[in-house]
Amino acid sequence: MTPPTTLPEGETKRVMIESMFDSIAPTYDRLNRVISLGLDRGWRRKTIAALELDPAAHVIDLACGTGDLCEDLARAGFRAFGFDISAGMLAARHTIAPLVRADVLVLPLADGSVAGVTCGFALRNFTDLSVFFAECARVLRPDGRFAMLDAAEPEQPLMRMGHHVWFRRVVPWLGGRLSGAPAAYRYLPASTAYLPPPAELIQLATRAGFRRVERRTFMGGAVQLITGTRS
Ligand SMILES: C[S@@+](CC[C@H](N)C(=O)[O-])C[C@H]1O[C@@H](n2cnc3c(N)ncnc32)[C@H](O)[C@@H]1O
Repeated sequence: MTPPTTLPEGETKRVMIESMFDSIAPTYDRLNRVISLGLDRGWRRKTIAALELDPAAHVIDLACGTGDLCEDLARAGFRAFGFDISAGMLAARHTIAPLVRADVLVLPLADGSVAGVTCGFALRNFTDLSVFFAECARVLRPDGRFAMLDAAEPEQPLMRMGHHVWFRRVVPWLGGRLSGAPAAYRYLPASTAYLPPPAELIQLATRAGFRRVERRTFMGGAVQLITGTRS
C-alpha cells in the first residue's frame, strides 16, 4: 500500500504501517545503516546499557523489525524476544532470538512477566502511545526498565538546518532510489509529526506507571533515548 500524503490515524494507520514495512523489508537493514550513517549500532549499545539490568534477564523488544536490537540483546546475554506486526520484516530477520508476530498494543504476555522492554524507532508508528505505555507497564515487573529510541528534532539552529537537509531531502531521495518505494521514504520524515514533544512523551510514560523517566539525545539532538522504571 502506498502511504498517503496526509498522515492517517487509527485502523487506517495500522493497516498502512504493516503493509508499508512488508514492502520495504528486503532493503530495510541496508538503508538503515545509510540513513543513520552507521551510528545506529552505538545507539543500540547505549539503549541496552540504559536498561541497567542483570544479563540473563527477560527482555522484550517491541516493534523489533528484522531483529537488530534483539540480536544485540541476545549477544549481551539477555533472554531476548521480539514482537512485530509486519510479517515481511520478520521474514527478513537476522537474529537467533525468537520473534513473534503480534500487535504490541495487545501483547500476548502475562502481567509482570518481563524485566525489560526496548523499542527502536517505532513510537511514531503506533496508533496510540498511551495504550502502548500502558501495555509496557502491564507486562513489566515492578522495578523493570524500559529504554526506547526514536528520531527527534535538534534544538540548536545549525544542527536543525543540517538535519533538515539530510532527513527531509537526502533520505527520501536516497531511500526512494535504493528501496524502490519512494512513498515510504517520504513518509519516514513526515511521520515524526506523530511524536509528542519531549515533556509530553515523559508525561505519557509517567502517567502509565513509570518513575525516573528520563530523556537524553544523540547526534546533536537528532535521536532521543527515553528510559524509565516500573513503579
Ligand atoms: C522503523 S521500524 C523499526 C524496526 C526496529 N525496531 C529497528 O530499530 O530497526 C518500525 C517497526 O514497527 C513495527 N510496528 C509498527 N506498529 C506496530 C505495532 N502496532 N505492533 C507491532 N509492530 C509494529 C513495524 O512493522 C516496523 O517493523
